[in-house]
Amino acid sequence: MTPTPTSHPDDDRSAPVPTPQPTSHTATTDVSAPLRVALLGGGTVGAAVARLLGERAELLAARVGRPLELVGVAVRDTSRVRDGVDPALITDDAVALVDGADLVVEVMGGLEPARSLIERALVRGVPVVTANKQLIAQQGPELHALAAEHGTDLHYEAAVMAAVPVMAVVRESLAGDEIASISGIVNGSTNYVLDLVARKGVPFEDAVRQAGELGYLEADPTEDLEGLDAAAKIVLLARTAWGLPVTLDDVQRQGITHLTDTDFEQAAANGTVIKLVASAWRSSAGGGDRVEVAVRPVALPQDDPLAQAREGANVLIVEARSAGTLRLHGAGAGGDATASAVLGDIVRAARVR
Ligand SMILES: NC(=O)c1ccc[n+]([C@@H]2O[C@H](COP(=O)([O-])OP(=O)(O)OC[C@H]3O[C@@H](n4cnc5c(N)ncnc54)[C@H](OP(=O)(O)O)[C@@H]3O)[C@@H](O)[C@H]2O)c1
Repeated sequence: MTPTPTSHPDDDRSAPVPTPQPTSHTATTDVSAPLRVALLGGGTVGAAVARLLGERAELLAARVGRPLELVGVAVRDTSRVRDGVDPALITDDAVALVDGADLVVEVMGGLEPARSLIERALVRGVPVVTANKQLIAQQGPELHALAAEHGTDLHYEAAVMAAVPVMAVVRESLAGDEIASISGIVNGSTNYVLDLVARKGVPFEDAVRQAGELGYLEADPTEDLEGLDAAAKIVLLARTAWGLPVTLDDVQRQGITHLTDTDFEQAAANGTVIKLVASAWRSSAGGGDRVEVAVRPVALPQDDPLAQAREGANVLIVEARSAGTLRLHGAGAGGDATASAVLGDIVRAARVR
């Protein structure tokens, strides 16, 4: 079956962004002046990034070689008070914010206006850091090309497994190796549900409800439960590992919504645990050289490293020819954990400038 990826319910988040025009601002090239950082989004991740940019100002300035100045936080609802965010920085004019920045951080999510705002920054030669996996899964190659055309960069470590630095490992640390396969539990929300069923014996439907009540699932949990979130992440990993044009349409995707209590009982009777596994591997089937990508529930032996993932944990296993088996695990979601990866990308992007 070739699944048709559905779009996120929040994909269209506001009015269109005007086409980029030459502006009165230009990106700062004076390296003693503070680097002006625009933050698009002040929600779970954005508020954590804003707070940590303030708390770690000295440390970040030392690492970058110049101070970073948060010049604004674009949101929809400017009346809401946000923990750790200076109210004077809140704005609903994301376009003006982008036009006055040296570095743009997009953590609003959805496809629009995130994409147009990112394009607007890239066209000015301004580097962009984003945590937006769906946008990069759908538009990554075009955005990379635009960045290259304008001599700048696009960074998205936070988009895959938040704080766990899997993209850097695949892109940089293993750049001299040959990656054979990547597999993992990259969606903590579904893992929380499956773990409740497997270890606590909670009926599947109750586990989904409990996960929702505890904030592990969005109000509309489709993206997690149908494997769309995991599909976007494995596409980003596969593209980075093999440099091939893997798309969401290539993912053999099956979520967990069709599972029944009988499936879980059967798995337990066989000494196995059901997990939602995202995987990518190089294949020469049919004589070609291509990459296969899949997201599906798999019954794993109890002692499989992926079967050990508890609650909202994320785990990734990378098999490389010389490196052997690498296992990375940690917090794949959460404000501070995701902000950690965003800050790492900010430092990386700012150093280049
Ligand atoms: N949360 C995580 O653990 C996590 C982990 C990894 C990656 N991510 C990614 O990080 C991004 C942000 O996630 P989040 O959990 O922080 O989302 P969130 O809590 O829903 O925050 C989104 C923020 O963006 C603002 N926003 C949305 N549309 C906007 C628009 N059209 N104009 C101006 N502001 C707009 C919202 O404003 P209002 O507050 O006014 O509504 C809100 O402040 C997403 O791409 C997500 O996939 C999140």
